[in-house]
Amino acid sequence: MSPAPAAVLELFRSRFGGVADGVWLAPGRANLMGEHTDYNEGYVLPFALGQGIVAAAARRTDRRLVLCSAQEPGGAADVSLDGLAPGRVTGWAAYPAGVAWALAVAGYELPGACLAIDSDLPAGAGLSSSAALECVTALALTELAGLDIDRRELAAIARRAENDFAGVPSGIMDQSASLLGRRGHALLLDCRSLDSSQVPFDPAASGARLLLINTRASHELTAGEYGRRRAECEQAARLLGVPSLRYLTDTGDLDRLTDAVLRRRARHVLTDDRRVLEVVGWLTSASRDAYPEIGRLLTEAHLSLRDDFEVSWPEADAAVDAALAAGALGARMIGGGFGGSVLALVREDAADQVRAAVAGAFAERAWTAPEFLAAAPSDSARHL
Ligand code: GLA
Repeated sequence: MSPAPAAVLELFRSRFGGVADGVWLAPGRANLMGEHTDYNEGYVLPFALGQGIVAAAARRTDRRLVLCSAQEPGGAADVSLDGLAPGRVTGWAAYPAGVAWALAVAGYELPGACLAIDSDLPAGAGLSSSAALECVTALALTELAGLDIDRRELAAIARRAENDFAGVPSGIMDQSASLLGRRGHALLLDCRSLDSSQVPFDPAASGARLLLINTRASHELTAGEYGRRRAECEQAARLLGVPSLRYLTDTGDLDRLTDAVLRRRARHVLTDDRRVLEVVGWLTSASRDAYPEIGRLLTEAHLSLRDDFEVSWPEADAAVDAALAAGALGARMIGGGFGGSVLALVREDAADQVRAAVAGAFAERAWTAPEFLAAAPSDSARHL
């Protein structure tokens, strides 16, 4: 799990010559609960994955940032640290270049650097490969510069790169999971105060398994629809006279929204915030019912994302239905929606039949076969 350092060191040597100063890793993430709650100042409960992005990096004596990636064979980038501005770099290189820009805006001095990048996160699977790319760049560049920056600040800088440089209006969840996750734990993050805590999360110890199902459905619509959902949430909050939907506590408040679409959007955010806290309650309860109850909440969240927030997609709905019919404790789409992955919670002895049922449902519809991935709560970004 996670790409081998030897391969990225070899990529570095073949593209740049010489030896890298180090290899850094930043993981992707899955999210146990709390979807589209982060930009509403609510709660999220993601965890870092074993899969991620590695970067072999070395300082340069000039002011250039030179990038290459094993996944983008034709797409090397060479930019001046002094000319960086939003819009100047496009494509995948906008994420690492954006991090250099956001670090400079935050007042940090960086040397030039060469970075060779490799990934074992499937592209477009909704597992936060862009956040992992930002975080691995942030860690490599700051350590090469001899800077030791608090990880919460680094997460905010990486998010700024994504929002203001790459132009993607995401929340803080993905960067936080990549930089703050811990093996055997989920990260409870309050996106209003940015306080976080580690919640023990080890399904295997209770005879349960997490199955990550990459539905391989295209992600194309995400950008526009994601921005639209954000705008709808902001409008609902304005109409209700609260700073953000996080401030809602009572489903009765929703009746004050006369627009049915806005009412559904707000109901998803309010109920998903509650589900995060309920999952945390079960995880910390030592109850035998914890995993069945968490499974139930996962499925409830899927229905809310499908019917109230309307961000699910046909392959995700089919995967959830097939997993449940084959005995999964619960399942839901994760991430922004309109493509990507489903997370299923299953009893260990049901894992094979759930996989077979989901694969069968896709085959029946002549869809590209889904990809099954391990989802083990893992450690955050680090120098290898
Ligand atoms: C994407 C964004 C996150 C979050 C999720 C939905 O992954 O990057 O900030 O909003 O969608 O929960």
